Amino acid sequence: MTQNEIDFICKNNSFIKELISQDPVKLLFKHGKDEGKKLLIGQIASRQRIKKKLPSWYDNYNLIFLPGLSLEQSSSEDTATLKAKLISGKHLLDITGGLGVDSYFLSHNFEQTTYVEQNPELFKVASHNLSSLSKRIRTVCDDGLDILKSSDADVVYIDPYRRDSSNQKMVSLADCEPNVLDIQPLLTQRKRITYIKASPMLSIHSTLEELQDVSEVWIISNRNECKEVIFKLQENQDSAVKVRTFNLGLGETEEFEFELSPNVKTDISFSEPLTYLYEPNASILKSGGQDFLAKKLALNKLHPNSNFFTSSEKVDDFQGKSFEIIEVLTPFHPSLKKGRFNVISRNFPKKANEIEKKLKLLSHKEDYLLATKTIGEKHIFIKAKLL
Ligand SMILES: C[S@@+](CC[C@H](N)C(=O)[O-])C[C@H]1O[C@@H](n2cnc3c(N)ncnc32)[C@H](O)[C@@H]1O
Repeated sequence: MTQNEIDFICKNNSFIKELISQDPVKLLFKHGKDEGKKLLIGQIASRQRIKKKLPSWYDNYNLIFLPGLSLEQSSSEDTATLKAKLISGKHLLDITGGLGVDSYFLSHNFEQTTYVEQNPELFKVASHNLSSLSKRIRTVCDDGLDILKSSDADVVYIDPYRRDSSNQKMVSLADCEPNVLDIQPLLTQRKRITYIKASPMLSIHSTLEELQDVSEVWIISNRNECKEVIFKLQENQDSAVKVRTFNLGLGETEEFEFELSPNVKTDISFSEPLTYLYEPNASILKSGGQDFLAKKLALNKLHPNSNFFTSSEKVDDFQGKSFEIIEVLTPFHPSLKKGRFNVISRNFPKKANEIEKKLKLLSHKEDYLLATKTIGEKHIFIKAKLL
């Protein structure tokens, strides 16, 4: 995007504002021959894509957007706001600036912030936005690794690019750009703290084997969907890794933490389903910390691979879904046919959608059918009410 195009979009943002709720395809059909209007309709389409992800940027008509991957790969306002509460220091250096979402939200807790992006077109757009949002962010168009080598920043943030040249999504840190595994000594030199954002698809355990000096791992979900995994790196880190899990968007943020240490084992108890049943939230399940949570709350597990927990007394404020068990049935019991249930299948040979289809089920807000296996190696269906 050229500077002229940026100026044109800013000057004509009333067109964008007026037509923001309209279908961009229909608008293009009507105005597509006018190059200027085509550019503005592109902005409408981009804005519509970020409406839920970045609501305050969506509402800000001084900002402009570059269609494409930068919108998809940016952090959301919710996750960036959470990170801003957890990350602070004097000088933040974001070496993979992208759209600038993380730079902007994290900058609130720093005296100085430097945003670096190597893609000149994206840099131009993000620089325009960041200068309109904040006077305290310095923007640099360069290779972030070169800037990192000479920077005095006490905190570094890296959100590597997660696509290869054939547009495949990549989940290992070694496949992302930059490859942080190649520059490990730089990440903690001069006592700096580095935060690396990774895809939730990535295996935490294999990454911990590759990445040195990890002091904390954060797993961030929004409405029970895992969005980000953050690795915090500190010089000479040799104690147990602290794992922190967050689940945003369902009222108060659910938070749970535990220490990951090869010597710490959880001796969890098992039982058949009792009166209440629990499913930990997506962040806890991703972290592998469900047995630590269950142990803390004195819950029994249904089966080593089921990740459903049970108790006779109700546990309040469980970090995940809590159910009251209505009835335990044999799988595909005829009484369930054409019923209204949400189905969850864990450690059961058929997936939720297959069960729904076979029993011709319709969905329901609170009534659940849980398909699983018990400690007696028996497959069961549990009719349960969401609490
Ligand atoms: C996943 S995006 C970052 C998104 C950003 N955190 C946000 O919330 O908007 C990664 C960005 O890093 C940039 N990048 C990758 N390697 C880089 C490098 N060595 N120097 C500077 N930028 C780099 C890519 O061009 C891409 O825009």
